Amino acid sequence: MAPLYREMNIQDYDGLLDLWKRTPGMGLSSADRKTAIEFFLDRNPGCSYITVETGKIVACLLAGHDGRRGYLHHLAVDPEFRQRGIGSKLVNISLDILKGMGIGKVHLFIYNDNELGKKFWAALVWELRQDIGIMSLAI
Ligand SMILES: CC(C)(COP(=O)(O)OP(=O)(O)OC[C@H]1O[C@@H](n2cnc3c(N)ncnc32)[C@H](O)[C@@H]1OP(=O)(O)O)[C@@H](O)C(=O)NCCC(=O)NCCS
Repeated sequence: MAPLYREMNIQDYDGLLDLWKRTPGMGLSSADRKTAIEFFLDRNPGCSYITVETGKIVACLLAGHDGRRGYLHHLAVDPEFRQRGIGSKLVNISLDILKGMGIGKVHLFIYNDNELGKKFWAALVWELRQDIGIMSLAI
């Protein structure tokens, strides 16, 4: 059976957390607690999607924007379902939605040692920026 793609909602949280926890390279923090994900989804309705196969979440992507740029977070595909085009389809769904909202550029964060992730994004013609770093402060 073909996998189903549908908009993410907060009732999906337990399945998402389970997938994120068993995905190497996924950096989880307090920003991934249920209330924070609910806040993110409420601020970015219609942008984040999941893939479901026989009732189980097998892939997901959080997407949103700040009114200026779009951002993608926590793309994960269950190892059993990789290299079938699911990751790229989720990305394309969210990019089409962000584009339709008037967003002209999208960014994402990737760990420097995530070689698989880099190959994936490069195949989708994303540019790994050499001119920008990230600076952070906990508040
Ligand atoms: C990266 C990830 C999301 C890819 O998902 P996927 O569903 O397997 O990707 P797709 O099948 O859509 O692949 C799209 C293209 O990416 C490239 N790609 C995907 N997996 C690859 C691999 N293991 N090695 C080399 N290239 C790969 C290929 O060019 C592929 O196109 P092709 O199949 O036509 O050759 C998945 O491997 C994953 O969940 N990784 C762990 C989490 C992670 O690193 N997420 C990104 C955080 S920034």
